[in-house]
Amino acid sequence: MLTDKVREEILKITAKYYNKRSAVMDALMLVQKDCGGNITRGDMEDIADMLEIKPHEVNAVATFYTMYNYAKPVGRYHIQVCRNISCALLEAERVIAHIEDTLGIKTGDTTPDNKFTLSTAECLGSCGTAPMMQINDNYYENLTPDKVDAILKGFE
Ligand code: FES
Repeated sequence: MLTDKVREEILKITAKYYNKRSAVMDALMLVQKDCGGNITRGDMEDIADMLEIKPHEVNAVATFYTMYNYAKPVGRYHIQVCRNISCALLEAERVIAHIEDTLGIKTGDTTPDNKFTLSTAECLGSCGTAPMMQINDNYYENLTPDKVDAILKGFE
């Protein structure tokens, strides 16, 4: 269920658009941030109601983009390592394997303390600084295993 604060924010955003439906991506991001990182079916129904669209239209957006966490809860820190062409050519797989070894999980899993979830993503638009990853809202670029270690230590 959407909080009053999120409902107010969504209303403000819809005022910026010619059509309310255009606010769907912003609304999903607001809800995701407000609810601790995971969008539920009920949230999508509430968003659809506010934007006067069908729930399946919200679902289509939420499930298409990797930046939305739907159906599978993620930990406090969601690590998304890009594995697309530029990052792949500069050893993204080595970065992924290093994170898996360091955290003791496989890609797609969450650590038992619910701190980290490791995912892969398609191009995150930072090809010039490959290999790279995103953790929550921040980008970490030109990764090496040593650099990954230092970044993960920052979350302790
Ligand atoms: S290929 Fe990795 S950011 Fe574009």
